[in-house]
Formats: sequence, structure tokens, C-alpha cells
Amino acid sequence: RYAYANGRFVPHNQASVHIEDRGYQFADGVYEVVPVHQGHVVDEEPHLDRLERSLAELRIDMPMTRHALKLVSHELIRRNVLTNGFIYMQVTRGVAPRDHKFPKSKPRPALTMTTRQLPAKSEAQLEQGFAVITAPDQRWKRCDIKSIALLPNILAKQQAAEAGCDEAWLIDADGNVTEGAATNAWIVTPDKKVVTRQADHAILPGITRLSLTKLMAREGYELEIRPFSKEEAMNATEAFLTSSTNHVMPITKIDGQPVGNGHPGILTLKLREAYVEQVV
Ligand code: PDD
Repeated sequence: RYAYANGRFVPHNQASVHIEDRGYQFADGVYEVVPVHQGHVVDEEPHLDRLERSLAELRIDMPMTRHALKLVSHELIRRNVLTNGFIYMQVTRGVAPRDHKFPKSKPRPALTMTTRQLPAKSEAQLEQGFAVITAPDQRWKRCDIKSIALLPNILAKQQAAEAGCDEAWLIDADGNVTEGAATNAWIVTPDKKVVTRQADHAILPGITRLSLTKLMAREGYELEIRPFSKEEAMNATEAFLTSSTNHVMPITKIDGQPVGNGHPGILTLKLREAYVEQVV
């Protein structure tokens, strides 16, 4: 297996970064997780759009052109014989002696890339769905930037794992669900409306979320873009999450209570099928 680091393809176990990389010292960088489905890169352009935007918000230059980023990632997919999984891209502000403010030396942004093969979800996993817990949203006020600073997300995921669950839904000061620790959150109301929160500074604008909203508009599904509370989620007939690594995943339990009849929702499974069909 190969990784891309310091401008070269290197064996994965020999890839390393500098001890004074600002990503390592300050989490001064951003990342992307780009899904690969049956050898195809899914939603490549919107992922690169988001990477460019995250970098611009932090005033870090693109490490190379978009075209070059595509060439490097495609070459890594080829070398690693990646069929299903994802490409991980990380860009940091670069290497400089430790000092909080942006370095005057203007270091070159440091790009690293790895790939990961993931098994497809089994029928049993799908039939069981995910269980989520709720936890306070302890993150900063710019969650729209895909920053590598992920401590609150890590702590929430760990709390979910220790509760035997798959994800944590984060609750803001108003009692609303913002999103999951690494996924976007959706519910279906008793009158069959699909609801997901608006993409403001409180959440990451998920690419899977974007694709699914477009698919829903095309196929005539009703969608309400608005915040929903934890209570509304507990009383929803269906719930699901979206992310590059999970596509559309049914949620069957919230804080130990079954969602609807405790089985994956019918609308959820229809949306999952439609989504998966369009990415191949
Ligand atoms: N997580 N919200 C958060 C906080 C995320 O970290 C992610 C992605 C999403 C879903 O976005 P997308 O559909 O573009 O994957 C929402 C990635 C997969 C991760 O950190 O591993």
C-alpha cells in the first residue's frame, strides 16, 4: 500500500510528516474524505469545492491545482487497487517553528493522502440500522470548515461506542440536533416530511447531504430544511444519517428508545437505494 506525502508516493508504513508540521502541533489544517464506489470517485467536484472553500476560510493556499489533486488521488487509487472505500486528503499550513500566528516564512502547505478499503455494509447491518446517543454539541462556531481539529467529535464518538452505539447526535443550546459527530442528521415526521437542518456555521455541509437533497428534488420528495429538536427526533417515524462512508444509513434507536417501529424506515430505505443507484 502507498500513501502520498512530501510530494511523493511512498510505501504507507514509511510515510511521515515533519515534527513541526502545524497540523501536528496546532491542528492547523483541513481534510476531505472522498468516497470511492466500485472504483469510481463519488462526487469528486463537490468534494474538491469544499476543500477549496475550507482552505480559503483559513487562508491556506491550495497545495496544487485541482487537476493535480485529481491526478494524485487517481494514481493512489490505482496503486492501492482501491475498489470500495475512501481517499483521505489532508492539507495543513505547513512546517514552521511553533508560533500561533501564521508563519511569516509562508511555508508550502503540506498535502498528505491515504486510501482505505472498506467492506460494503451487510444486509444484517442494514436491517439492524444504527443506534445513536445524544450528547451536548461542544464544538466551535465554524463547524462548516472541515478542520482536522476533531476533539469534541472524538469524545462524542467514544461516548457512543462506550454505550454500544454507532453515532452521537449533537444537541445545541436550543435543544436542537445539529448533526452527528461525523455524519449529517435526518428525520421523517409522522406526516412523512423529510427534515434536515440548514447548512449554516453549526454543521458541516455534507456532500452526501447535498447529493441526496438534489436527488429528492429531482424525484419529487418533500424536504423541509430546518432545525429539529431532540424531542421531535424521539417522536419521529424514521431517522437516518448520511456521510461519505455510510451513504444513507437507517437509525433504529435514539438514546435506547426505538425509532418508529424499531426497524429501518420505508422512506429511508427507498432513499438509500436511490442514492446508491446514482453513485455507481
Ligand atoms: N465525516 N458532519 C461531520 C461533522 C462530518 O465529519 C462528516 C463527514 C459529515 C458528512 O459529510 P459527507 O457527506 O461529506 O461525508 C457531516 C467524514 C466522513 C469523516 O470525518 O470521516
